Amino acid sequence: MDFLGFQLRNNLFVAPMAGVTDRPFRQLCKKLGAGLAVSEMVTSNSLLYGSAKTRRRADHAGEVDPVSVQIAGADPAMMAQAARHNADNGAQIIDINMGCPAKKICNVMAGSALMQNEALVAKILEAVVAAVPDTPVTLKFRTGWNRENRNAPRIARIAEESGIRAIAIHGRTRADQYMGCAEYDTIALVKSQVGIPVIANGDIGTPQKTRFVLDYTGADGVMIGRAAQGRPWLFREIEHFLETGELLPPPRVAEIHDILRGHLADLYAFYGEDTGVRIARKHISWYTKGLAGAAGFRHAMNQMQGVDEQLSATDEFFLGHAAANEHLQYEDRCAEQVPEMMAA
Ligand SMILES: Cc1cc2nc3c(=O)[nH]c(=O)nc-3n(C[C@H](O)[C@H](O)[C@H](O)COP(=O)(O)O)c2cc1C
Repeated sequence: MDFLGFQLRNNLFVAPMAGVTDRPFRQLCKKLGAGLAVSEMVTSNSLLYGSAKTRRRADHAGEVDPVSVQIAGADPAMMAQAARHNADNGAQIIDINMGCPAKKICNVMAGSALMQNEALVAKILEAVVAAVPDTPVTLKFRTGWNRENRNAPRIARIAEESGIRAIAIHGRTRADQYMGCAEYDTIALVKSQVGIPVIANGDIGTPQKTRFVLDYTGADGVMIGRAAQGRPWLFREIEHFLETGELLPPPRVAEIHDILRGHLADLYAFYGEDTGVRIARKHISWYTKGLAGAAGFRHAMNQMQGVDEQLSATDEFFLGHAAANEHLQYEDRCAEQVPEMMAA
């Protein structure tokens, strides 16, 4: 797929997730089939550029092109400065976050709270686009402020007029937070009204649901967040289904064990061992979610402090599983939506 002048292997995007889509995870998703992975949000508050967390978030060494970095904030000048700073430090695409309902972000009127103030949205978008004339700028937002105010079509038109090159829309309002299931009518409406690429996001977790959302909305691609946690190979499963109409068999336990081993090694190297072990806990929990014996295993694993302990417990769990079952099986929360939506 050609996306803003970059050749992507497909139209499957990894959604930005603070605390999840760090460089090791983005690289792994790209290796296992994602066309693009947006980095964790980087604050537009330049005073924080020096913090270890912000520096790590801006570390793209060895990352497969294109590097897309998300920025968040509500002040046009600061956002412009953040865009320039990131473009100077390796970002090939700047993504603006107007999709995050988190209190920490919304209290300062950034994230999805901004959607309430369309004049300010225009100012921010214009300032950022002007600040990085050689770098495409994309925008991620929700369907609206609340269900009475689904202003995504207006925000999308403002974006297009401001020089934003592509948009990603999460099919929920800010008030919905993460409740209920995402809807795709608003995304379809936006797609019918703008000429720039539209990426559909929200509750996409299976190959079939991806096919459904692409057909239903006419979107140019999909963005997947939570379903990829602990399951970075989801992208190759979707890619295969979109290309052939056939489902791959669930992956072999031994292969997933190998993938997780590699992921853990990257986490320890990226964060250092102490922080690496802590960050690795949540990934191990996601990889094992839904597998027999996972709850007890996770509980024990969460008490472990060292790399060796964590690795040997993980090995023991997966070797035990490989002995019992050749293939993995995971469940999907919103998969049952597809037949209902198709009947509607
Ligand atoms: C842990 C977590 C962190 C997130 N962080 C961000 C973020 O930094 N920026 C952003 O635009 N969206 C963020 N999101 C929202 C996701 O990008 C995505 O829009 C949302 O999860 C819906 O997609 P999904 O159903 O595929 O998960 C986050 C979501 C989660 C679950």
